[in-house]
Amino acid sequence: MPRTLGVCYYPEHWPEAQWATDAARMKETGLTWIRIGEFAWSLMEPSPGTYDWAWLDRAVQTLGDAGLRVVMGTPTATPPRWMLDKLPDMLPVDAQGRPRGFGSRRHYDFSHQGYREECRRIAQAMGERYGRNPHVAAWQIDNEYDCHATTLSYSDAARRGFRDWLAQKYQSPDALNRAWGNVFWSMQYDDFDRIDLPNLTVTEPNPSHVMDFRRYSSDQVVAFNRVQVDALRPLTDAPLIHNYMGRTLTFDHYAVGADLDIASWDSYPIGFLSDRIEGSPKEKQTFLRQGHPDNQAFHHDLYRAVGKGRLWVMEQQPGPVNWAPYNPAPLPGMARLWAWEAFAHGAEAVCYFRWRQAPFAQEQMHAGLLRPDSQPAPALAEAAQVAAEIAAMPDCDPVAAQVALIFDYESAWAWDTQPQGADFEMFRLAFAAYRALRRAGLSIDILPPDTADLAPYKLVLAPGLMTISDPLRAALARFQGTALIGPRSDLKTRDMAIPVPMGPDLPDTDVTVVLCESLPPSDKIKLQGGGRFRHWFEHLEGTAPVHLSTRDGQPAIMGGDHLRYLAGWPDDATFDGIVGGLCDAAGLATLQLPDGLRIRDTARHRFVFNYGPKPVTWQGTTIPAAGVHWESLA
Ligand code: GAL
Repeated sequence: MPRTLGVCYYPEHWPEAQWATDAARMKETGLTWIRIGEFAWSLMEPSPGTYDWAWLDRAVQTLGDAGLRVVMGTPTATPPRWMLDKLPDMLPVDAQGRPRGFGSRRHYDFSHQGYREECRRIAQAMGERYGRNPHVAAWQIDNEYDCHATTLSYSDAARRGFRDWLAQKYQSPDALNRAWGNVFWSMQYDDFDRIDLPNLTVTEPNPSHVMDFRRYSSDQVVAFNRVQVDALRPLTDAPLIHNYMGRTLTFDHYAVGADLDIASWDSYPIGFLSDRIEGSPKEKQTFLRQGHPDNQAFHHDLYRAVGKGRLWVMEQQPGPVNWAPYNPAPLPGMARLWAWEAFAHGAEAVCYFRWRQAPFAQEQMHAGLLRPDSQPAPALAEAAQVAAEIAAMPDCDPVAAQVALIFDYESAWAWDTQPQGADFEMFRLAFAAYRALRRAGLSIDILPPDTADLAPYKLVLAPGLMTISDPLRAALARFQGTALIGPRSDLKTRDMAIPVPMGPDLPDTDVTVVLCESLPPSDKIKLQGGGRFRHWFEHLEGTAPVHLSTRDGQPAIMGGDHLRYLAGWPDDATFDGIVGGLCDAAGLATLQLPDGLRIRDTARHRFVFNYGPKPVTWQGTTIPAAGVHWESLA
């Protein structure tokens, strides 16, 4: 499949006379896609029920005439001001009980049924207008669910919805009391209508209560998205897409993705490094202008799974962003490298955000492919280079990976609800495991927690799974490769209680976690032969063979040939050693990669990316800083 490039564009930000020139320039740069519309509700429907499509008709026509393919965004992340007069209680409410105001974006509550209906109406109106338009070749629904922390809302609408959701799930208050363990602290309910949202309690609320609220809230995102899917499906054959964010775990992306055709995400590597990725000061300095060398890869692999194999990058950072604590410019070459990393991970399209830097409003300090005065910004030439390169090398089909990492959203909520140690966080643990795999030069698939078939893989890692699902347990029982489960896996029931008998319940593997301890950053558990656990350590018992021990003789890894349990959170060097040992056991070749170098195989090529700030010579080839090199796989 040929790979394509695109750009995010806001016709409403520019004089109409400029549209055709812009479009011609995009075409000349080699761009295929143009995403528009996603924030333009106030112009599509200036007053309730009065639509103005004329400007958008002309925009679609002008862009389409230039040969661009339009991704049409539904504008539901930015309801116009009049919507608040119509639905005064539609605002999301923070955990302190304060409604969040108008004047930016995402000022809506996922639970609000009236707002959902408004979204259905605008999506349907857009579908009727553009669903069969030959230039509209894809749709984006809403924009970045949970951006600005809006999944969890403590509104009246959420309270009503939650009570109803609980009544459907449990059928009787007694069943709920039993599942939550409400006998503890006299918390029993005799009526679903007496159950509040788990905010503003005196001390921590019951974790089972919180977990159900997290599930409920995730379900609202799924339902909100589905309303627009259902409105658009009959009106268009073009694929329906959402643009997810990085490191956003508040809703089950697999569940949203099940209703869509393609998963896309918004990749801001430098903003992320500054804002959202842990790392030593040295690491942050080394990758300051490149982003973390594994962050993009992790999200490509995750969202490829969410998209059931189909992946896009809907927004790609082109230069400094405006929203991170510090916003350095990328090294020359990074706007090209990031695009190639996405293609090597199976992305069908990469769209830069945005075409021209806006001289006004919130994002005026955010770079585009053009400066505000329409002169080229540095990324324009890099985009043109990528366009020429993909035209010359259209074959970038993904490889069948031999390594899998299971990643689960419910577990993220569980450890958020009850971290037990200040730095226990699901993303952080899964990312630590992923980074070790990638440092070993492996190409990885990320799989959902209900995966029923592990046969294609030689090595599987499953860190931090709250509960092992029945299909996964059955797949593990049949698995002929090597799987490393844990730490903190299968140690809770779905109700967020400790199972008795205690977990994990691993097929044919007698190992039990009898005690968990969390460690402050100053402490560590030393392992025999070197290496250490940090953050977290579990005391194991059982008759399964011990593969690794702590210095004081406690088991650190136990299990058989196929299934092993890991008792702690290894630091990076220790994870490298563990992955090396597992790869040997699984018959997988690993690589010794110099610092900052990463590789990704496609079906026919090996790509080598240099995220480092200096040139690196590896296997006879010198790859410049921010350089990409590829060669055919024999
Ligand atoms: C994304 C968002 C865009 C824009 C961009 C700036 O999160 O979808 O609309 O705000 O960030 O980096």
